[in-house]
Amino acid sequence: MANDESRISKGIANRAVAPAVLSGIRTPGECAEDTSPYSIRASSFFRHSTFGIRHLVNPMRILSGIQPSGPLHIGNYFGMMQPAIALQAEGEALYFIADYHALTTLRDAETLRVNSHRVALDFLACGLDPERATLFRHSDVPQVTELAWILSTVAPMGLLERATSYKDKLARGMSANVGLFSYPILMAADILIYDSDVVPVGKDQKQHIEITRDLAVKMNETFGQVFKLPEARIRAATETVPGIDGQKMSKSYGNNIDIFGDEKETRKRVMSIVTDSTPVEAPKDSERSTIVQLYSLFASKDELANMKERFKKGGTGYGDFKKELFEKLWEYLAPMRKRREEILRDKSYIDNVLARGAKHANEIANQVMQRVRAAVGLR
Ligand code: TYM
Repeated sequence: MANDESRISKGIANRAVAPAVLSGIRTPGECAEDTSPYSIRASSFFRHSTFGIRHLVNPMRILSGIQPSGPLHIGNYFGMMQPAIALQAEGEALYFIADYHALTTLRDAETLRVNSHRVALDFLACGLDPERATLFRHSDVPQVTELAWILSTVAPMGLLERATSYKDKLARGMSANVGLFSYPILMAADILIYDSDVVPVGKDQKQHIEITRDLAVKMNETFGQVFKLPEARIRAATETVPGIDGQKMSKSYGNNIDIFGDEKETRKRVMSIVTDSTPVEAPKDSERSTIVQLYSLFASKDELANMKERFKKGGTGYGDFKKELFEKLWEYLAPMRKRREEILRDKSYIDNVLARGAKHANEIANQVMQRVRAAVGLR
């Protein structure tokens, strides 16, 4: 996995932490002797080193979020959900439904409620295991907005003015509300409030993690060592999944293929992938083809090599390649559709998972907020 993932840790190195302020903070894989003042977390466990010294081993903490602004698409799946699901075996994972964030664009209460529930359902259906990872709603941890306020008091205006996602949204004609502008501050709070080590995301979130690190450094410089610095975890092969028009797949571009779209609609979306006008018999360029890029997500190495070969050879039309892509995609997603049906049969399952998740997320957030309030003088 290390080969196809790039760790983004631009600029500032993770600093040493002062135990007096940072009680309980760990770095990934870090060991501290149990005579230290570090507090013992529920998630920590003990091991014995070869020297017979008892060490406290804190697992890496993994955090990510997803907005409930509509049905999830395969860009969300390969960019964030699949890597996040893989990481749940490697540390303490916390994943949340970013409903506060969705408020910056969604103004219908019932739609927000339905979408939030649906994101939970879809994430669980895709393989999030609530026994290993914590799933919760952003708004079940309202302390995060308090932290966002505190961070906003040290955030330079210029830092936010340079945020590309805000500038992109303005360029696409969205009206500029303050929430949209300060979105990166809330996102920084989302990450820092759990002492997160690693944040699995698609490439479009890279700048937000850099802003998070900048704000953490600013806080540490101003108030002493309050926060540790998280790292983005971006999987190079799927950092930007293209949509049916070849641009980044996004709900707001209308070029999405949904994970749980119905068969007819999904087939239609795949068959509308934009191609050039190369005739059937002519060789085709597989390197720049959206069909091939999407096929590579679902097919085996051999299947992919075979499709590329047939692109080069000519004699097969884009329509036939799209049909193959649809079949592969549909087959790949079948176990998730099945799991989704099963979850839907248990009416209280999702609510129970979210309630448990909220409880655990609150425990962590409360500990960190105590530290933050003490550091800035609110307590
Ligand atoms: P959101 O809801 O837009 O997207 C959720 C995740 O899916 C990834 N993604 C993609 N990856 C590859 N190719 C694509 N075409 C594609 N489209 C979406 C996104 O990169 C993201 O990882 N601000 C975040 C949500 C958030 C968050 C956080 C994430 C709020 N707080 C704290 C991490 C940590 C967002 O709007 O993601």
